[in-house]
Amino acid sequence: MGEVFKAVKIEESVYWVGAIDWALSDFHGYRTDRGTTYNAYLVLGDKPVLIDTVKARFKDEMLSRIASVVEPREIAYVISNHSEMDHTGALPWVIQHLEPEKVFASGMGVKALKAHFGIDAVPVANGEKMNIGGVEFLFAETRMLHWPDSMFTYMPKKGILFSQDAFGMHLASTERFADEIQEKVLFEEGAKYFANILLPYAPLVLKLLSRVGEMGITPKIIAPDHGPVWRKDLDRILGWYSQWADQKPTMRAVVVYDTMWQSTALMARAIGEGLQEGGAKPVLMPLSKSHRSNVITEVLFAGALIVGSPTINNGIFPRVADVLMYLKGLKPKNLVGAVFGSYGWSGEAVGYIESILEEMNVDIVGSVKAMYVPSPDKLQECYTLGMEVAKKLKEVCYGDR
Ligand code: FEO
Repeated sequence: MGEVFKAVKIEESVYWVGAIDWALSDFHGYRTDRGTTYNAYLVLGDKPVLIDTVKARFKDEMLSRIASVVEPREIAYVISNHSEMDHTGALPWVIQHLEPEKVFASGMGVKALKAHFGIDAVPVANGEKMNIGGVEFLFAETRMLHWPDSMFTYMPKKGILFSQDAFGMHLASTERFADEIQEKVLFEEGAKYFANILLPYAPLVLKLLSRVGEMGITPKIIAPDHGPVWRKDLDRILGWYSQWADQKPTMRAVVVYDTMWQSTALMARAIGEGLQEGGAKPVLMPLSKSHRSNVITEVLFAGALIVGSPTINNGIFPRVADVLMYLKGLKPKNLVGAVFGSYGWSGEAVGYIESILEEMNVDIVGSVKAMYVPSPDKLQECYTLGMEVAKKLKEVCYGDR
């Protein structure tokens, strides 16, 4: 890689030495339209410390960036904040070829590194302060944000929080700092990342935000493992996290559906008209063009989830089943809902979807089934269902009775 890929200075003696993945479009089922970065950081004290690594095939890019400021073999320590392979893929090579003295990780991280790669790491405890390579670090476990091993590493002297996946986003860019990037892009990609990765653990995010100050973590810089580094106006990203984690219902109603012969699509459009008439803001998401990761992002900002599917082979249409499993796993909260769909002779899909929405604690307002092609009366039922959902949303959002 020669001297093409350079480190980027974050602060005196602290460098970004990660990799930019311009081509990534799918991150385990999450569509990443703007690619991503895998951020690794180099801290130069008495002995160099590497914080996290990159996906395995980006190892040479990371090494080239490290080599632009220090001989890679001088790296004495590695801190692994998170064991997922987008941050540890290059770690086995680093250990084998650079031979650092020690690798540090949380207790669960030690187990995960052993299970993934057979690596023997040294555990650090929650709240532990340690001098590593002449630099003081403070470790804070962030269990289940979003893996059991996840932890923050904080540099008290410089106020730098290495936050692994938290406060990150999938965004490939040549800009390394959030203040160099359009706010609209940061908000979109930050929210999408939160919805697709962190949403199941939203209550933990709220707890964490209140806990970091008590632990003596008052960051001036937040350096996540994906996307840009935050060095200005940190309240912006912290405020967004607080807002997203709250999942306060809004008048937006996501209508997600698929269709075989346009009957379920027609029902969706009629429901959309009823929602609008009732004062809600419908967002129609036909699955022929809406990716599951965009659906959950819209749901993050909604108060209603309305799902439609034709019945096929006595079941749910495949893309609807896919998105329902995805949404269920991400555990969105505070939603009202409804179900609809066309059928030919058996019509099981609507009932199956109702069961899934109930498991998701969605407050179901009603459902409509239409045989083959919705009649004008059926379309009126759909319109009325949209109106009823809007009415319920007003109750939930404004306490209207
Ligand atoms: Fe970016 Fe959970 O790995």
